[in-house]
Amino acid sequence: MPTTPTINAPWGSVIARSPESPERLDELSQEILRLKKERNAVILAHNYQVPEIQDVADYVGDSLGLSRQAASTDADVIVFCGVHFMAETAKILNPSKKVVLPDRDAGCSLEESCPADKLKAFQDTIENCYTIAYINCSAAVKALSDVICTSGNADKIVRAAPKDKNLLFVPDENLGSWVMEQTGIPMTLWKGSCYVHIEFTHASVTQIRKDYPEAPLVAHPECVKAVRMLADEVCSTEKMVTYCKNHPSREIIIGTEAGMLHRLQKECPDKVFIPAPTDNCKCNECKFMKMNTLEKLYDCLEDLSPEVDLPDDVMDRARTPIERMLEIS
Ligand code: 13P
Ligand code: SF4
Repeated sequence: MPTTPTINAPWGSVIARSPESPERLDELSQEILRLKKERNAVILAHNYQVPEIQDVADYVGDSLGLSRQAASTDADVIVFCGVHFMAETAKILNPSKKVVLPDRDAGCSLEESCPADKLKAFQDTIENCYTIAYINCSAAVKALSDVICTSGNADKIVRAAPKDKNLLFVPDENLGSWVMEQTGIPMTLWKGSCYVHIEFTHASVTQIRKDYPEAPLVAHPECVKAVRMLADEVCSTEKMVTYCKNHPSREIIIGTEAGMLHRLQKECPDKVFIPAPTDNCKCNECKFMKMNTLEKLYDCLEDLSPEVDLPDDVMDRARTPIERMLEIS
């Protein structure tokens, strides 16, 4: 059983810890590993999951890596530890497999910001519209889209879009405007945002940069422009791992959800990771990602529930833009 590393953050103790005792967590982890074999299941976990879930997962990564893993697995059951749209994506890519998730209510503010009926009405107002949807959206929105992207491939997907179309980017206006800056390609942006990343402000990030003048800052593209402009690197959570491994600095400021620090600490045990603060807090967590616990993971493997279930026609229409993304990237 891999051990959870101590996070070398100056205030690592403010980062959420499970209320369970270490003994109980160890016991649950052993049971999860046993059940996983029994069910021929694979556990996929996003980089923002609590440390004890990351430690029992077969694969931990960003949305792009998780989609690739979901597309290629030969397990009978996919246990998706992330948020609901991620588990839906795994189901769309594997309609005949059972896809379960620890908490069905683990949503996403970006997904909420873009209901399918509103998107359809807006698309109808744009002539020759080509819709690029960030993967943080519902299956119904994916079904209305031409291609999907993640933060790890958004610039590539936008560059590959047809030149004679009017591009609509949904639902994250911050990721969309970052991609426009990178590519110089104009797009109409849906006005959605990640409630976690927009909490980082120019003032809070400037202060932490002053406190650690030698430390580079790596930030997620869901951050607002005023924060992205302060960053040395803007990238997906998986690319943050590569950036931190390759950067010579021992201290690095991380401008994303604080679950990322566990993954980074495992990959780079000698480095010190400083979570970027908000105006109100020394780090920042996604309440949806944190709805998953080891207890719920155990229960969902034991009961094979809650299960993702989507209408066949929605899955069929949503699969094409996801597969287009996987081909392009
Ligand atoms: P990544 O694909 O970069 O991990 O981002 C997913 C996400 O939800 C960020 O908030
Ligand atoms: Fe959605 Fe933001 Fe949470 Fe990611 S961090 S799942 S974008 S609310």
